Amino acid sequence: MALLTVLHYPDPRLRIQAKPIAAVSVETRRLIADMLETMYAAPGIGLAATQVGVDQRVIVVDVSENNDESRAFVNPEILVRDGKEKMQEGCLSVPGVFEEVERAEHIRVRALDRDGKRVEFDADGLLAVCIQHEIDHLDGKLFVDYLSELKRRRIRKKLEREQREEHERSGAAAPAI
Ligand code: NI
Repeated sequence: MALLTVLHYPDPRLRIQAKPIAAVSVETRRLIADMLETMYAAPGIGLAATQVGVDQRVIVVDVSENNDESRAFVNPEILVRDGKEKMQEGCLSVPGVFEEVERAEHIRVRALDRDGKRVEFDADGLLAVCIQHEIDHLDGKLFVDYLSELKRRRIRKKLEREQREEHERSGAAAPAI
């Protein structure tokens, strides 16, 4: 297993539309294992392949208290959306930012699991929010897209500044030649 690098907003690769996977392969399962390791290390409760620069429709989530209920979904689709719910969201690609987003309260999901078996299930609460957030990633969409233009611009500036400072810090630590 390997830790993957999580892309940060406004990296343009976060806007790529991920492609469906024809069949769950050994490579898919390796990607899932690496994504889970990366998600737990962050720590986070969900991660989409888009966030690690892979344009395939794969997401992983774990909304359990003890981090012992990992789920992986390939080619996930939302069949039904019902009700509305507002919840505070964050994102590993938008570090340090938490904002309220309105999403469907209940969803019905169809996907392949990590064994390539077709699954269909209902979700609500945090799991429903998390799955909607991750599927958005596969479509190149971020939770900040639901916020006002003004808020989004502020967040973008803040993250660009932090990335610049991070870059300067790591540059200063490099040996002069
Ligand atoms: Ni996210």
